[in-house]
Amino acid sequence: MKKQILSRKAEETLYIGKIIGSCLTAGDVVALIGELGAGKTSLTQGIARGLEISESYAITSPTFTLINEYPGRHVLYHFDVYRLQGSNDLEDMGYEEYFYGKGVSVIEWAEKIADIIPETAITIEITFLDENTRRIEISAPEKRLEEISSALSKGGF
Ligand SMILES: Nc1ncnc2c1ncn2[C@@H]1O[C@H](COP(=O)(O)OP(=O)(O)OP(=O)(O)O)[C@@H](O)[C@H]1O
Ligand SMILES: [Mg+2]
Repeated sequence: MKKQILSRKAEETLYIGKIIGSCLTAGDVVALIGELGAGKTSLTQGIARGLEISESYAITSPTFTLINEYPGRHVLYHFDVYRLQGSNDLEDMGYEEYFYGKGVSVIEWAEKIADIIPETAITIEITFLDENTRRIEISAPEKRLEEISSALSKGGF
């Protein structure tokens, strides 16, 4: 099952992320897929707000560190695996403690490590339609998708 919505400006993607973030719970893994500049980091910034992470943290892609960690309703582990060749590098750093731990993991460029993304992950694909418009397609186990869809509907999506 999939839920597809449109974001017509960057602020909308933040808001969509916030709604999704408010639905997340301990141990969730969010796999983000989308081209350069699609809006993966923007969506993650919204997710951080939905996880009640303080606005004083600027959520930026952890390009050189691989992972950034922020305290919130659940700890957010923000991965950007753009520079990785594959999942081997993550295996070396013990990714299981993050993916199967009590925090929430959000992974930009998750398609690069598709082989180690848990089956229960929430996958969000962002497609660039034009300068300000993005298609956001969410797939998740049925019950989770229902929860997220219903929260998005309440928020006007
Ligand atoms: N509807 C929209 N949703 C998200 N971002 C948008 C939208 N419209 C315009 N933008 C712009 O697109 C850019 C998205 O950048 P962002 O860093 O979030 O992308 P990204 O997918 O993380 O890129 P990268 O692959 O470099 O990490 C921002 O400059 C943002 O302002
Ligand atoms: Mg990014």
